[in-house]
Amino acid sequence: MVSISLSTVSLLDAKATGKAILLEQGFSNGSLAHLSKTFPALADMVKERKFTGGLLSTLVIPYAEKTHVSYLILIGLGKKNDGKIDAENYRRVIGKLMRIMEEYKITSLAFELPSPQEFGAPTGFIAGQTALMSNIASYHFDEYITDPDRKVINDRKIILLIDGLNKNEVQEGIKKGEIIATSVNKARHWIDLPPMVLFPVDLSGKAEKISKEFGLKYTVFNEKEINQMGMGGLSAVSRGSDLDCQLVIMEYSCGKKNAPTLAFVGKGITFDSGGLSIKPAASMETMKEDMSGAAAVIATMASIAQLKPNVNVIGVTPLAENLPSGKAAKPGDIVRFYNGKTAEIKNTDAEGRLILADALSYVVKNYKPDAIIDVATLTGACAYALGPFYAGLMSNHDELVKHLQESADRSGDRVWRLPLHDDYKPAIKSPVADISNIGSQTYMAGATTAALFLQNFVEDVPWAHLDIAGTAFDVPDLPYYRPHSATGYGVRLLVDLAMSWPTE
Ligand code: BES
Ligand code: MN
Ligand code: ZN
Repeated sequence: MVSISLSTVSLLDAKATGKAILLEQGFSNGSLAHLSKTFPALADMVKERKFTGGLLSTLVIPYAEKTHVSYLILIGLGKKNDGKIDAENYRRVIGKLMRIMEEYKITSLAFELPSPQEFGAPTGFIAGQTALMSNIASYHFDEYITDPDRKVINDRKIILLIDGLNKNEVQEGIKKGEIIATSVNKARHWIDLPPMVLFPVDLSGKAEKISKEFGLKYTVFNEKEINQMGMGGLSAVSRGSDLDCQLVIMEYSCGKKNAPTLAFVGKGITFDSGGLSIKPAASMETMKEDMSGAAAVIATMASIAQLKPNVNVIGVTPLAENLPSGKAAKPGDIVRFYNGKTAEIKNTDAEGRLILADALSYVVKNYKPDAIIDVATLTGACAYALGPFYAGLMSNHDELVKHLQESADRSGDRVWRLPLHDDYKPAIKSPVADISNIGSQTYMAGATTAALFLQNFVEDVPWAHLDIAGTAFDVPDLPYYRPHSATGYGVRLLVDLAMSWPTE
């Protein structure tokens, strides 16, 4: 955890070896005037190096103090948005500052917390984003790396310079940011763990531990119970594996039975080989990421238990491995789900929708929530459509979409709506069962046809499906993430949704 402390001294008096100044694009010379007394050549240097404050542009100036070398860091916030600092730009600046600390081996960094006037957002939010993003940017999956030079030194300190008036608000924001960051990084760690280490029972074990630690109700069903309950989708997917599948239910109660209830459902395939419809080797390489939805839901529940929103929240995750074997489900098999509907399995690699069908039916029948949001690395089609920066959002409910869009804007986990229209429904017709588990080639639109499959299991409950196949893992070019590693996508979004859900 990044250690964050508060101080009311000026930047030059701060006890830190790194001192950063965040400047908007085309900043006025006045912004640096007070520094020019200490560093008379500063204005010339800024000009000479053509530092203009463009987003993520930096000027790092080492200077000698009596006992050590310190660094003055100028970093660009880019253009303001309606005269305000853009929140996503700020997140990236924090990420970049953490990279600079790594590069220059700076262990303590001081900078001024932007004011609510500059930001157009409350102090608590700005402090929260600072704590959240500095911790997200400091995550590195290096426990299997033995070369000490490749490990990231993580005992870093940030000294936030504030005017002292709203110290409590800043502290509360930091605390909240740290809780969410811990969840995001937990999810990322589970996702990054090799699939030989994290099996379905291991992930349910993590959920159980979190439930015990933070006082959530925890229920788990094993493979035998799942079979007995008639969850034919989850059973079929898990059948090729030697290991038990699991269905995990975590429940947070706000103390009011009548409060709105949200249900979060996460796809938890701890490894997706495709099954008998086996994937080509290159597509299988990163398929440990196929439990990213489940990881996000379980980690979100840890934050919710601590932040205590005024809604009830259920977190549900079906967990299984998708492997080929003599026992594996076959193309041509027909399965019956928990809600009685049937599907023809035409392709065993479209397994996510099969396990989600049972989980969604279970939630609808036993909880009747006010809204269901499922999170799943569901289709390559969605990743192709939107790439790494937006999750696909498909929903039967415009008001829920509005809430999610607002949470996405606030939290930084971005969403983009894709169609969920009846015109595409014939794509998943089956001649031998209620529906088919893949869409017909004529209709293409693989993300939408997958969502239409899921719609069969939510009845008329307001529901949104987030396809995170593109956003969960190995996202390039964002300074707060690392390539070849998990992002924890969904945690920030779902926590924000629960915290901001209207309760009258
Ligand atoms: N887990 C994959 C989807 C995926 C692809 C996640 C890339 C992350 C990155 C899913 O189970 C899958 O295999 N989907 C198939 C569906 C097809 C057979 C209809 C796909 O997208 O190819
Ligand atoms: Mn698959
Ligand atoms: Zn999958």
